[in-house]
Amino acid sequence: MDAPSGPPDPKAVVGGTFSAAAETYDQVIPFFAPFGRALVAAADLNRGARVLDVASGRGACLFRALESVGPEGSVVGIDLAPGMVDALAADLAARGIANASVQVGDAEALDLPAGSFDAVLAGFMIFFAPDPDRVLAEFARVLKPGGVVALTIFDGSTPSQLLRQVGEELFGAQDARAAEAFDRSEVLDPALVHAGFDRPEGIDVTERFRFDSAEQVERWHRSHFARLLLDSLDDQQLALYRTRLAEHLETMRVDGGFELVQRARVTVAYKR
Ligand SMILES: C[S@@+](CC[C@H](N)C(=O)[O-])C[C@H]1O[C@@H](n2cnc3c(N)ncnc32)[C@H](O)[C@@H]1O
Repeated sequence: MDAPSGPPDPKAVVGGTFSAAAETYDQVIPFFAPFGRALVAAADLNRGARVLDVASGRGACLFRALESVGPEGSVVGIDLAPGMVDALAADLAARGIANASVQVGDAEALDLPAGSFDAVLAGFMIFFAPDPDRVLAEFARVLKPGGVVALTIFDGSTPSQLLRQVGEELFGAQDARAAEAFDRSEVLDPALVHAGFDRPEGIDVTERFRFDSAEQVERWHRSHFARLLLDSLDDQQLALYRTRLAEHLETMRVDGGFELVQRARVTVAYKR
């Protein structure tokens, strides 16, 4: 007899979607890379520091962190998605980098000793975890006292708004995942204090991105979490997405293409 099928495990959905997207993640346009640079700049890492990059993806934060800590420092990357880990491990090997490693892991239950890192980085991940408070407690556990945590969120300016609207038009209003509240600084900052961090401070970062065509935007949507919706659509539903995308792109039209202006917020706090 088949096992009864319940609602899908949210972590399996997140890990599976990012694994499927890993090959093209941040390759269609370098969207996450500039935010990774801003995150690492805000963390102000010391040379020689030992850094944990949680949800390392394709290394938007990890490669910048390696530049900051130098050869005497090190970076450990962990990610839920095996496809991301394999792709990043291949990139590290191809560049002959010896002071970074990457492994599959869950931010809610880090398989790492207490007090073993000077810094924890988490670019655009806290709002994916089913239990963000547990993730923040894990960050506090693995950090040394005085260690820095740096997180990026969209803080109300998510680039997925169009996809959300299309999803609602096709399938009706969906309940927001509880963790999505952590994509807001008014929720994240007090949660950091509760988890044992001092002085959360936010820096707003705005980046501009250029697309040549609707087809390129669609490929970009398939290269990150928006892929989850697009992969579930039949031909008719996909046609509706393309219509809504074309309408939306008219609001972004610039000379010979489309411009996305995207804001994000980097938050830095220190372990008490
Ligand atoms: C939007 S990507 C960000 C990746 C990278 N930090 C960057 O800035 O490009 C989100 C990443 O979070 C990972 N992720 C989501 N939930 C996670 C969890 N509970 N533990 C570890 N990684 C997780 C996903 O697999 C994905 O690689």
